[in-house]
Amino acid sequence: MTRSEQVVLITGASSGFGKAIAEAMHARGYCVYGTTRTVPAPAKADSYRPLAMDVDSEASVAEGVERILRERGRIDVLVNNAGFGVAGAIEDTTVEEARAQLETNFLGTHRLCRAALPGMRERRSGRIVNISSLAGLVSVPFQAFYCATKFAVEAYTEALRMEVRPFGIHVSMVEPGDFATGFTARRRMARASGPASAYDERCRAAVGRMAEDELRNSDIGPVVRKVVAVVESERPRLRYPVASLLQRTMVALRPALPPSWFEYLIMDNYEIR
Ligand SMILES: NC(=O)c1ccc[n+]([C@@H]2O[C@H](COP(=O)([O-])OP(=O)(O)OC[C@H]3O[C@@H](n4cnc5c(N)ncnc54)[C@H](OP(=O)(O)O)[C@@H]3O)[C@@H](O)[C@H]2O)c1
Repeated sequence: MTRSEQVVLITGASSGFGKAIAEAMHARGYCVYGTTRTVPAPAKADSYRPLAMDVDSEASVAEGVERILRERGRIDVLVNNAGFGVAGAIEDTTVEEARAQLETNFLGTHRLCRAALPGMRERRSGRIVNISSLAGLVSVPFQAFYCATKFAVEAYTEALRMEVRPFGIHVSMVEPGDFATGFTARRRMARASGPASAYDERCRAAVGRMAEDELRNSDIGPVVRKVVAVVESERPRLRYPVASLLQRTMVALRPALPPSWFEYLIMDNYEIR
């Protein structure tokens, strides 16, 4: 099968990783649909196909997937990338704020998998790449709900991979560290954050440090190239961390260190001792 016959669906393609992955896959000759919640501009002559989709909505996901199946009859590759971050102290975060985070980052991934899997299963082939995070491996103070959604994506992906392997479907995760995308500016602070919060000073320090680390790292190329490599790999692995040596070392060291030492390192890193 030629690349132009292979249909790729990437969620959250209006910005950051999703946009760059959609452009890279299009440039390699795949037929790419990239989603955004805003009404997309008509497709440019030499670009991927924009598709309106809100991953929070069953109806919107069903409508978007139906359109692809009507136009192309199949989805060969699904990249679950749409997501955002909620930050703030756990005590300051309402259940509604937490639910919104789960709705997009975790249940959005599940909605898309459910929509794409039947066709992949029938054809006995398919690729799913879930964009997780190093925050799916190590929890970060004042980003508990974001981390919880990515830990959930990790657990889900591990299980899904084993469930669908007999159908010729490969499931993997790419786990970025900190990168400059639209993510930093779109981060939602829990509404109760601010000077009235008992956590204000430490929360600002930790989230500020995180934002600095993200904005310092503007080359998102390694994440984009990793996703392309995973899609094109004969036997993709479960996990692909893409992060600085320091961050990868921290994650690798975790099982070897006493938990209190690891906690100290994390708190020191986020300046909240
Ligand atoms: N940047 C980092 O440091 C970093 C690190 C690790 C993991 N990640 C993960 O990478 C993924 C992409 O984020 P990014 O860094 O590229 O951020 P970004 O530039 O803000 O892009 C996020 C994309 O997600 C889309 N999106 C958000 N909510 C959506 C919804 N309900 N339905 C459909 N689309 C939605 C946005 O599209 P619209 O608003 O146009 O709909 C946008 O295209 C996320 O899953 C994020 O958690 C990022």
